[in-house]
Amino acid sequence: MRTVVHLSDVHFGRVDYQLVEPLVKFVNELTPHVVVVSGDLTQRARAEQFREARAFLDRLPKPQVVVPGNHDVPLYNVLARFLTPLDNYRRYISDDLAPFYMDDEIAVAGINTARSLTFKGGRINEEQVALIRERMCALKEGMTKIIVTHHPFDVPEGGDEDALLGRAEMAMQTLAKCGADVLLAGHIHLSHIGHTASRYRIEGHSALVIQAGTATSTRGRGETNSFNVIRVEHPGIEVERVTWQPETGRFTPAQTERFRHTPTGWTRLADAPPTVEETIATVAQESDVPDESP
Ligand SMILES: [Fe+2]
Ligand SMILES: [Fe+2]
Repeated sequence: MRTVVHLSDVHFGRVDYQLVEPLVKFVNELTPHVVVVSGDLTQRARAEQFREARAFLDRLPKPQVVVPGNHDVPLYNVLARFLTPLDNYRRYISDDLAPFYMDDEIAVAGINTARSLTFKGGRINEEQVALIRERMCALKEGMTKIIVTHHPFDVPEGGDEDALLGRAEMAMQTLAKCGADVLLAGHIHLSHIGHTASRYRIEGHSALVIQAGTATSTRGRGETNSFNVIRVEHPGIEVERVTWQPETGRFTPAQTERFRHTPTGWTRLADAPPTVEETIATVAQESDVPDESP
């Protein structure tokens, strides 16, 4: 079993500081195998904001898979935006814009989707997809392959379609072939779990899309601060949403959903048909109930 902590949109520069200590404590106590941060480490890509983000990451367990978000590219400094868009990110966070973690159960690949040419939008390109193919396609059967982007491959029904990752359709074809079908993202500041079957019609394939809300930012868009704890035990996945409770001043597990991998995608366990053993147990239980009819 592997434990992945999935944080997103911490936005130093617009942080609710009372959340930082409880968050650091909670995550350290979990002793995860890997910590993922799916972008927007800062609010305006300023050096002092990146320094704070760096200090925050230094206090979290390692290894970490961290990718930039659109807010990590300078917005108002036009020269920096186009000439050195991720200069501060590279200096303070990481020079590696395609971070990769692997052990004998999971592989986690980060992809930089932040671009200078769009203010909020993001893209994936063919070179990035080729690298994923190289890293993921050859892995042994039974590994859970996880992709991390800032911009999401899917949004909740009725959500902002502009938030979707550009060229995602092209990327999904390769991800499907390689079995990389757990997609972690942030950006919309809403926690959500969905699947890609209706948006990307790929025969026999559906990826699990796991969105994290904002862990520490005051830009919560109506949702309380939260993050995800993902427990992977092939072919199963458990996603626990941990939310901030202002009354107690603590992060607390709020909701857990479980999924099982099947040949055509992911099945939510509550929806899965009962196994033969479960059916036998239910029938046995029902036959123990006394008949109350007249
Ligand atoms: Fe954000
Ligand atoms: Fe964003």
